[in-house]
Amino acid sequence: MTRDVWDGRDYLPRVFDRWVGDAGAAFQAAEVEGVVVGVQRLRPYAPGLIWYEGLRVAAEQRRRGIARAMLEAAIEDAREQRFREMRLATRDAPAVGLFESAGFKRLAEVKWWRGTRVEGGEPSRIPDAAEARRLWPSVAASKGIELYGGVCPDLNGARDMDAGEMERLAGQGLLRVGPAGRAVAALREAWGQNVAVSLLAGTGGALRELLMALRFEADADGLNHVTVNLPPGHPAEDDLRATGYDFADAEASAYVYALKL
Ligand SMILES: CC(C)(COP(=O)(O)OP(=O)(O)OC[C@H]1O[C@@H](n2cnc3c(N)ncnc32)[C@H](O)[C@@H]1OP(=O)(O)O)[C@@H](O)C(=O)NCCC(=O)NCCS
Repeated sequence: MTRDVWDGRDYLPRVFDRWVGDAGAAFQAAEVEGVVVGVQRLRPYAPGLIWYEGLRVAAEQRRRGIARAMLEAAIEDAREQRFREMRLATRDAPAVGLFESAGFKRLAEVKWWRGTRVEGGEPSRIPDAAEARRLWPSVAASKGIELYGGVCPDLNGARDMDAGEMERLAGQGLLRVGPAGRAVAALREAWGQNVAVSLLAGTGGALRELLMALRFEADADGLNHVTVNLPPGHPAEDDLRATGYDFADAEASAYVYALKL
């Protein structure tokens, strides 16, 4: 089912065993005449929020309404369990058509930037939970924050961005701050050998220092590079360019969608 997906680079074979064994989420299959033709997963990940992922339909069974039927069943499931909202991330045009026609609204678009590791400098500071909470008002007022649609676009589960989320990120060691707290980066669990950033706040000198410090951090941790998800048109684009970052894939965007249940 995944052989022809993303030029054979689908992540699903890698996570399959874990997903089958994970009692905290529902990994579901669709069958036609006793043969599995599709899969999808529903994962509660924050109060009231359920993440939808891993939708695949076997190539020879596509365009027959199977994905649509599976998604509708998933939405019904989530409603019955009284979740407030279903969210997902996708980069694929057919999937975008499916989700938009099912009523999902786009919260954010992000493009991928990459900066390679750099030797020799100081990694950035990691704030504690109390400091993270105090930093929230300046993050909320930062230029371009509205482009994130109110969420932190972690493509493994986009949570609402607020003081509580800042505190949670700090608790997990996933927040970095620039000089005098004038720039902030929210990290996410990386998929590969990199430091992965899902949200940036701040601009100018402080942000540039932070972006360089992330490249130093990648080197200190023996990782190849830093990836940054950034909404197109965000003012930090200039700071990324100025600190040696470039588009990893200028054509493609990833989108975060949400459906109120
Ligand atoms: C995306 C995918 C799950 C769709 O499965 P499917 O069973 O063929 O989808 P359906 O027949 O239920 O179609 C539902 C809607 O999806 C959209 N769609 C599906 N395939 C499409 C295609 N090739 N081109 C454009 N739109 C498409 C359409 O909006 C369609 O509605 P319509 O038939 O009324 O126009 C399937 O193509 C797939 O497994 N692709 C590879 C993996 C992938 O991209 N997964 C999604 C990751 S989030």
